Amino acid sequence: MNFELTEEHLMIQQAAREFAQTELLPGVIERDDKQQFPAEQVKKMGELGFMGMMVDPKYNGAGMDTISYVLAMEEISKIDASASVAMSVNNSLVCWGLEKFGTEEQKEKYLKPLAAGEIIGAFCLSEPEAGSDATSQKTTAEDKGDYYLLNGNKNWITNGNSASVYLVMAQTDIEKGHRGINCLIVEREMEGFVVGKKEDKMGIRGSDTHSLMFQDVKVPKANRIGEEGFGFKFAMMVLNGGRIGIAAQALGIASGAYELAVKYAKERKTFGKEIGMHQGVGFKLADMATEIDAARLMVLRAAWLKDQGLPFDKESAMAKLFASEVAMKTTVEAVQVHGGYGYVKEYHVERLMRDAKITQIYEGTSEIQRIVVSRAILKD
Ligand code: CAA
Repeated sequence: MNFELTEEHLMIQQAAREFAQTELLPGVIERDDKQQFPAEQVKKMGELGFMGMMVDPKYNGAGMDTISYVLAMEEISKIDASASVAMSVNNSLVCWGLEKFGTEEQKEKYLKPLAAGEIIGAFCLSEPEAGSDATSQKTTAEDKGDYYLLNGNKNWITNGNSASVYLVMAQTDIEKGHRGINCLIVEREMEGFVVGKKEDKMGIRGSDTHSLMFQDVKVPKANRIGEEGFGFKFAMMVLNGGRIGIAAQALGIASGAYELAVKYAKERKTFGKEIGMHQGVGFKLADMATEIDAARLMVLRAAWLKDQGLPFDKESAMAKLFASEVAMKTTVEAVQVHGGYGYVKEYHVERLMRDAKITQIYEGTSEIQRIVVSRAILKD
């Protein structure tokens, strides 16, 4: 077993690290404060190939593997988790779903500009009454012959007001349960599509989270992904991969907080020595380093399995479950290491602590990951 990254992987990691330091770090506190989406920065991420990392170059993607993607996600998330969630949704949910299951026409029309980062996409599954229980979709897509009539509401949609293309899950045949759900590609300009309220969130405040409304939106049949009734399965398969991205985000938030804690522990002196030299702090750093290392190995394993074309559903859920808990624990401890300074915005760790929480909630709560893992164990 080889644990070394290739030259190419190291270059991508370095490029993402430099980008995060030079382009994302300045202004990250202000964007969090003002709930400002990092539009300019995300545009630059597109120019660097970060918005369609795994897409085939023939569809304007960077043609990289999932390992490269998680390395870049970790680096971007260390500095700005609001930018990295936009990146994650665009890469793992929207681009991957379209490339894997879209028609040639859908790829030409939608995937190409999405993978180039010219536009961004959103994934619309959650509803006011269908979060974890995703089969209970109330949004309807009535079959009208050559189009679907889309009606309903979606909630907590990442990139809600910044996206141009939306993958929307909706119920066509209630009798068929989850097999009656379709995934439709909705364009922002379609008549009857309304962007609703922006959420005022605890963390990832620069991320653009909105509710969406669909009022008699006519979506051409050509915009359905896959066969009739494939929508739920599509969403589940896409989320299996998406969870690797969010696990990498959680890992980045944890390692970002850890790096700040180590720096502070080497600089700050109390009782005549650097605080890291006091066991109370040193032990915290040791625990953080150990847990982050374990999370990183799990994230890389899930990415590697996906790259090999091997089953990775259980491992991606495990990686997300573990990395998100490490993110929460590490960020709380990083604030503690900083003492009073950790509680003020200037030192970044309080923001990372607020950002960490969402990784235990979106793309399936920790409880959902446990369901996925336990079902896989019992099926084996
Ligand atoms: N991979 C592939 N297929 C899966 C699957 C998986 N992980 N989980 C379920 N399926 C398939 C099943 O095989 C089944 O298909 P068949 O009938 O053809 O066999 C079908 O889906 C229904 O499965 P279940 O009966 O197991 O469904 P369930 O109602 O018990 O729910 C669940 C399963 C795992 C709880 C699922 O509802 C779930 O994952 N919920 C969480 C949804 C979620 O993650 N939402 C996040 C929103 S997106 C987001 O957050 C993006 C963002 O903005 C950042």
